[in-house]
Amino acid sequence: MSEINWDALRAAAVAAMKKSYSPYSNFAVGAAALTSDGRVVSGCNIENASYGVTLCAECSLVSDLLMTGGGKLVAFTCVDANENVLMPCGRCRQLLVEHAAPGMILETISGMKSMAEVLPDAFTREELEANG
Ligand code: THU
Repeated sequence: MSEINWDALRAAAVAAMKKSYSPYSNFAVGAAALTSDGRVVSGCNIENASYGVTLCAECSLVSDLLMTGGGKLVAFTCVDANENVLMPCGRCRQLLVEHAAPGMILETISGMKSMAEVLPDAFTREELEANG
């Protein structure tokens, strides 16, 4: 996707990673995404003394998305403290699919991927609406 500035998106993820609150794992994560209306949203992981309450970087990214005007995500990247690309965890793939524009591209450790490639046969709102 030539119109996506992946270097700028990664730089936004690195800037977010530097704001990480991760005193328990010491594993800082930053995520950034381009929105359908051209904004860049980002987030960092936020840990808690009650470990299970930890918010992944993707959680604060989705919060940023909604708090700054909503829309859908068209391109996504995530980095670790060494500024290397990191895969979103399984829970966060589920979180992302709900806010992904059709055709959203993720930068991954094995190249550019679609949401369907990283979360095949996703469970979505459509299942609820069809079977509810
Ligand atoms: N983490 C994220 O922020 N995103 C992911 O997709 C993978 C894991 C965070 C959660 C925790 O703060 C730390 O990485 C170690 O698991």
